[in-house]
Amino acid sequence: MRSSMADFFREHPHMRYIYFGGKGGVGKTVVAAAVALWMAKQGKRTLLASTNPVHSLSNLFQMDVFGKAVQMPGTESLYVQEIDTRETIEKSKEDIREKISWFLKFADIPTKAEEFIESATMNPAFEESAMFENMINIIFEDKYEFYVFDTAPTANARRLLGMSKVYTLWVDKMMQSREEAKSMRLSLSFRKKKVEEEEDPLLDYLTTFRDRIDQMRAILTDDQKSAFFFVTLLESLPIAVIRRFIGWFEDFGIPIGGVIINQAIDKSQVSEDTAEFIRNRLKMQDRYREEMDQYFKEIRGEIPLFEKEVRGLDMVGKVTDALFAAA
Ligand SMILES: Nc1ncnc2c1ncn2[C@@H]1O[C@H](COP(=O)(O)OP(=O)(O)OP(=O)(O)O)[C@@H](O)[C@H]1O
Ligand SMILES: [Mg+2]
Repeated sequence: MRSSMADFFREHPHMRYIYFGGKGGVGKTVVAAAVALWMAKQGKRTLLASTNPVHSLSNLFQMDVFGKAVQMPGTESLYVQEIDTRETIEKSKEDIREKISWFLKFADIPTKAEEFIESATMNPAFEESAMFENMINIIFEDKYEFYVFDTAPTANARRLLGMSKVYTLWVDKMMQSREEAKSMRLSLSFRKKKVEEEEDPLLDYLTTFRDRIDQMRAILTDDQKSAFFFVTLLESLPIAVIRRFIGWFEDFGIPIGGVIINQAIDKSQVSEDTAEFIRNRLKMQDRYREEMDQYFKEIRGEIPLFEKEVRGLDMVGKVTDALFAAA
């Protein structure tokens, strides 16, 4: 089925958070920027944020937006930011160090905190969870009317979302054990009263954390407020990637906004005289387009392959025009 991006936003007037997924290099950053620009042109104070640890947005707009939201010159309400994950990672490490040290002391365990911190923070999921944490912070700050997240490549995004469920389970379990440990300690203690009144920063932290994750999950799974879009080329591998991705997302109950085709060769520019390899690629794209019409319920638009890479606000504007053209 074909209905445009504009239709989608007309049908979802309360939409506030959108995210982009797809194979590496297919144009997620470019498409995210194009949608953010459109939204800003509708008068909404819009944040385009990248959770990717590469400087893709600075490169796209040829200005430094690393670690801070910058208002895009030439627009009234588009803000662009590359999230600085290093800062969050350091802060999370510090947080964890503090909590673990406190806990080891609390539980009278004569082990150095460093060993635990090492194993908690060397984990590859740690960086992702820091990115997720960052995204949550930005959403909860509530400074914008509309948020466009140019997410990290496919598998990461899914893990982030899968993790939100796991977090809650894990934290609930932790809290249960903590309560048990606390009451045991209480019954063994000679200083009953004092222990009872002792603060429990770890438990507080876990509760706050779980509540945040729960709230975040509620936002991510609310199909009136959040939508995930998938960008693909008319090629086998990027299509396979998003088919798998959409399958996972359906399992998690995450709302899918639709699929966007990027880098489609403009037919009107191809004739019998055009180089054979371009004519062949056009045929190939036609085949994959037909295939896609069978697999995907919502194809929201098609962006042509431009004569050069997309850089600067004017080029992004061209992508916006292509994407929001009537279907
Ligand atoms: N329609 C298009 N026409 C021409 N060039 C394009 C088009 N779309 C994207 N590009 C170019 O393709 C490259 C990849 O695009 P982009 O950075 O948006 O991909 P991505 O999916 O965000 O990549 P990554 O997975 O690394 O984040 C960029 O150089 C971009 O300028
Ligand atoms: Mg990108």
